[in-house]
Amino acid sequence: MSGTRSHWEKVYTTKAETAVSWYQPHSLRSLELISAAAPDPAAAIVDIGGGASRLVDDLLARGYTDLTVLDVSEAALAKSRLRRGSDAGKVAWVVADITAWHPPHPYDVWHDRAVFHFLTAPETQTAYLAALRTGTAAGSTVIMATFALDGPDSCSGLPVQRYSPETLAARLGPAFSLIQRAEETHETPWGSQQKFSYAAFRREA
Ligand SMILES: C[S@@+](CC[C@H](N)C(=O)[O-])C[C@H]1O[C@@H](n2cnc3c(N)ncnc32)[C@H](O)[C@@H]1O
Repeated sequence: MSGTRSHWEKVYTTKAETAVSWYQPHSLRSLELISAAAPDPAAAIVDIGGGASRLVDDLLARGYTDLTVLDVSEAALAKSRLRRGSDAGKVAWVVADITAWHPPHPYDVWHDRAVFHFLTAPETQTAYLAALRTGTAAGSTVIMATFALDGPDSCSGLPVQRYSPETLAARLGPAFSLIQRAEETHETPWGSQQKFSYAAFRREA
């Protein structure tokens, strides 16, 4: 098992859902950006590093029918599947490391909250961006949330790379145009604050 996978399996097998800093009962900012990008409920949406997030629950409730949740942790996805019960079959669950994933087709919306920022080495970022290019097409929307420039410099005990929408745009390259941005102060379950930077990009070519 890779170091990345064993770290995250340990997190999800030892901590309760509300005992992780990134927990949100509803991912309101993500939902707002996804709804704007994909008014059609048949849009293909992938949540990269979705973990045990309840975003998928809210997307199902809004009628989206083509949902994929990918995570390196099997335990994280098992929690979401269990929570969804009989609805779990409506979602494609993919256990994979994003830096080694070959998307089977392009998605209309690529969503990532607090995953890309863990990739601090240029080569792992490059591997992620290769998956992003395969997993999107011209017209796709990429929604990414990272810790902001004045946000924490680590998460879950791991160092992170912080971004502004502009520095993230520079990292994604000219094929992706910045179309929307938002700053958010996330309150952790124990009341501390973390500054997040959200950005939406349209793939141009
Ligand atoms: C901070 S959590 C965020 C979870 C979720 N996106 C949310 O907003 O609630 C980071 C997630 O990314 C997953 N992850 C970390 N590195 C990954 C990788 N290389 N490939 C796929 N998933 C990864 C972790 O298992 C974890 O679920």
